[in-house]
Amino acid sequence: MDPQTGELATYWRGILGTLAQRGLLHDRPRQGGTVVPEADGYLFLDRAVYVLDMQRLAGIPREKWLDVALWAQMRAALQGRRVFVSDGGGLAVCVARQPGTHVKRLPNVIHLTPEEIPPKAYHVKLGYTKRGPVILDLAGAHRAILTGGWSGAGKTNFMQSVIIQLCKKHGPAEFQVAIVDTKEVDFGETFARLPNLFAPIAHTVEDGARLIAKVEGERERRQALMASAGVADWRRLDEPFPLLLLVIDEAVDFSKHAGMDVTIKIARKGRAFGVSLLLGTQLPSASAISPQIKANMTCAVAFQCRTYQESMAIIGSSGAQDLDRPGLALAFLDGRWQRIQTLRVGDDGGDLADTVSVPVTPALEPVEVELVRYALSDLGGCFTIGRLAEQFAGQISKRALTKLGQRWELRGWLTAPTNAVDPRRVTDELAALGLPPGQGTVSGDTVIGVTGGDRALKSVIGTGDRASEVVTGPVTGAMRAGVGFPVPTFS
Ligand SMILES: Nc1ncnc2c1ncn2[C@@H]1O[C@H](COP(=O)(O)OP(=O)(O)O)[C@@H](O)[C@H]1O
Ligand SMILES: [Mg+2]
Repeated sequence: MDPQTGELATYWRGILGTLAQRGLLHDRPRQGGTVVPEADGYLFLDRAVYVLDMQRLAGIPREKWLDVALWAQMRAALQGRRVFVSDGGGLAVCVARQPGTHVKRLPNVIHLTPEEIPPKAYHVKLGYTKRGPVILDLAGAHRAILTGGWSGAGKTNFMQSVIIQLCKKHGPAEFQVAIVDTKEVDFGETFARLPNLFAPIAHTVEDGARLIAKVEGERERRQALMASAGVADWRRLDEPFPLLLLVIDEAVDFSKHAGMDVTIKIARKGRAFGVSLLLGTQLPSASAISPQIKANMTCAVAFQCRTYQESMAIIGSSGAQDLDRPGLALAFLDGRWQRIQTLRVGDDGGDLADTVSVPVTPALEPVEVELVRYALSDLGGCFTIGRLAEQFAGQISKRALTKLGQRWELRGWLTAPTNAVDPRRVTDELAALGLPPGQGTVSGDTVIGVTGGDRALKSVIGTGDRASEVVTGPVTGAMRAGVGFPVPTFS
């Protein structure tokens, strides 16, 4: 028997064996043995095709041949070669000759839709390899990401995908983002409206440096609070801080700037305090991205590069110069090199960022609103526990007030007392929550992002059984603070 006939015979034996195992073959009444179907076998470049003789199907009905469970069992019998039965008038059994030759190539575009967002906290989907999805943990293993590649390769799209996925899953009480976009065009209106902004988007190098310093200030504030609470990891806190992600679209802007030293510090020290980093660069030369930065990043994602030296500079390996289309990336993840088709976000964040939902849960209890107002009107902005306890006797105990003071301080709503006798002070942010919408006074220093503060958010995505708790409306200070923000679930 020549090798090709041998191959055809081998597959056919597997097919008949599967039919027998499923009890589809009938015994021959007189001669013994079983009645088997007959077919003409043809070998093509990629597949073997068995055209069944419809007169000699051995009594196996058509619907049995078309049963996908049967195909799956045949596939297992044929060492993973795909099997399907086509029904174009007559029946034909098709077998892929190479296990896996029928696997589809990665599509050029895979859109970011709500269904793509992984449910686990702070996890985002980078995209797909041929084997399946690739997930990043922004609060853990992938908390400091470097991404590079030449203009138009997909860096900004990737950053936007990360931001949008986190914003859709987490309210501002769980996730906040600081964006440095010196190109001024990439993070437009849609991003300026996000309720999760830590501060307004920085569009110049000077503003960017200030924002980076502000993020580092927040990290130091957290460090001090955690030191006094005796907690070493932010996620162990009774009320954890929101994850704070610093995104710098073009890190090279800061390569000769003090902002880079601060960024390195954030990369080095942010982990314990819930401060993560996402850095992009179009010019990934060794001089642009210092070894110090690279040493402190936990993960690198390369998009298409012009030379292998650029690929080396980003991921420490050649290969990214061979990526042949935007959105395709190379990264060392889960212990191996992976080629990933990253998820595509619509222009300027597309519809997704527009639909980041906003909670209606009031930020403060009525009595808390009264406390803030009294502190502002009668105590000169001081949150003096003793005085408040007196004034609100019967409504809230001194003990509860003490706890509230600690909690609000942790949140950044009250200043830390400068010494043992000084009371904490109400911040502008808390003041804004205690006043009716429209009367809030917000200054750039303490409020969480005021850009586009009076613009209405657009419609809301389906959020499962919490949908009724979600409305559209103007963004108020209370919403920005996002207390009790429901975590949307995508069904
Ligand atoms: N994941 C993707 N899938 C498909 N196309 C993409 C993807 N990312 C980017 N692109 C295409 O490449 C263009 C440039 O992407 P962008 O993220 O702005 O690149 P960069 O920031 O690297 O200059 C986009 O407008 C889009 O057409
Ligand atoms: Mg870009």
